[in-house]
Amino acid sequence: MKRIKPFLFATTFFCAFTSCNKMEKVHADYNVIPHPNSIVMEQGRSFLLTPETRIIYPKGNGALCETAYLLSEYIEQSTGYSLQVVADQSVTPGKNIILSLNMKHANPEGYKLEIKRESINITALTEAGVFYGVQTLRKSIPARATEMAVELSPAVITDAPRFSYRGMHLDVGRHLFTVDFIKKYIDILALHNVNHFHWHLTEDQGWRIEIRKYPELTRKGSMRDETVIGRNTGVYDGKPYGGYYTQDEIREIVEYASARFITVIPEIDLPGHMLAALTSYPKFGCTGGPYKVASEWGVFDDVICAGNEEALTFLEDVLTEVMDLFPSQFIHVGGDECPKTKWKKCPKCQARIKAETLAQDKTHSPEENLQGYVIRRMEKHLNKNGRLLIGWDEVLEGGLAPNATVMSWQGEKGGIAAAKMEHPVIMTPNTYLYFDYYQSKDIENEPFAIGGFVDMPTVYNYEPLPAELSREEQKYIIGCQANMWTEYMPTSLQVEYMLLPRIAALSEVQWSMPENKDYDQFLQRMPRLLDIYDREGYNYAKHIEAFLPQKTEEQNVEQKAAL
Ligand code: ACM
Ligand code: ZN
Repeated sequence: MKRIKPFLFATTFFCAFTSCNKMEKVHADYNVIPHPNSIVMEQGRSFLLTPETRIIYPKGNGALCETAYLLSEYIEQSTGYSLQVVADQSVTPGKNIILSLNMKHANPEGYKLEIKRESINITALTEAGVFYGVQTLRKSIPARATEMAVELSPAVITDAPRFSYRGMHLDVGRHLFTVDFIKKYIDILALHNVNHFHWHLTEDQGWRIEIRKYPELTRKGSMRDETVIGRNTGVYDGKPYGGYYTQDEIREIVEYASARFITVIPEIDLPGHMLAALTSYPKFGCTGGPYKVASEWGVFDDVICAGNEEALTFLEDVLTEVMDLFPSQFIHVGGDECPKTKWKKCPKCQARIKAETLAQDKTHSPEENLQGYVIRRMEKHLNKNGRLLIGWDEVLEGGLAPNATVMSWQGEKGGIAAAKMEHPVIMTPNTYLYFDYYQSKDIENEPFAIGGFVDMPTVYNYEPLPAELSREEQKYIIGCQANMWTEYMPTSLQVEYMLLPRIAALSEVQWSMPENKDYDQFLQRMPRLLDIYDREGYNYAKHIEAFLPQKTEEQNVEQKAAL
């Protein structure tokens, strides 16, 4: 008897049990969230995705190699089989998914996804563009296509985001979450084409980032004695609470996000919201303390002493280490909710006001101008190191720093004022994009929250370009972001619940062109995304289910047919 060569035997065995003859098939659907700019269905036969399909990336391109492996992982999550990833120089003809950089596209995050019988091509000007093509492809594949071949009808999808800044924020000061959860959060951001993760790392209630030059920040400032129960009831749980991220963990998270084309923007909130820092180093406060890491929520009078040179050097030193850890061009310095009570009485602060001639003017008090002075100093330090400052809209008080980007949270008025002054603006108005607000009016049946009301239609119908700005002025609105403040979110499960599915609505505000936006049509596309949430076990809010069409998983089962 002739011996079967091991290689041949393996191939025969593989084919018999995979796509060659036995696999059931399921159909892909390109109506994903966020909605692509253009989907043109073509004539001809479909591409059949099977375990033999390979993913090809351009040899020598490390980022696209990583993206190719991510695509393989995404497909495995849906189908259970993993595809081979190959550099293009070693390609033999076959039915492949080809990632390449050869498209002339004006938008660096745009892509073209072309599905033909022989191949799937994702082309873009940049690696980021290819990544978004990969996201659209993976969302087109049914979430549960286990051990099935996937039939993809021929089509050309041409797409690009509406806004270059698509952000999602997370406060880890009030409650903190594991490194694994931060990675999961980043995965969810990537699924929704978000490209900036705004990481709010310091608060009155806890300092969460290791700073080597100031070890007390994490030794003392990362722990609070206890946490208030409810909304500042005066009753406390009596349990110490705290923790922080080491520099190694931060580097790991920055790298994880970067592989998903997400920039992590760190926020060191200054000169207010600094009780944890003052507890660690009381000499940086106006009174010298003693201070205590806050055990309840709110805005506190004790802030950094703006008249103390050593305190401002401390802030600059912290930013220096932050810049070392985060390659992001944007660094957020907060600037919100800084009471001026202590500055008014502090001889050092008053001396600074005099020395820097920060007197009362038409619109600002001397202390507001002192706040402007602190922010301008931080900006100088960041700019000297090639970085740009972002601040909450209070940075408009006391004169806007020359190169500042403004995050408009108290409605849109701060953003509108900044755009008129020709400064970049990120819209994040609390009335539309605060995900700590309730998402249902039936609050008895909701997890306890801060208050407010922001449901799916409210998020979906938000328009980031205010009509009162001219077209020229609107160009300064670089994007928008939703914020996740965690006073009332002690667990990551609750964070997921507040994030999902509102982030799906946000993603169309950030990505899709207004002419492609329609809430009812969005709801038609939602079940397929919910299939992914279900498969991944995400804890999402279910309020929209009553408004949804039949679940697609069931439709897919109906569509299954033997090859
Ligand atoms: C904020 O909500 N204090 C920016
Ligand atoms: Zn002072």
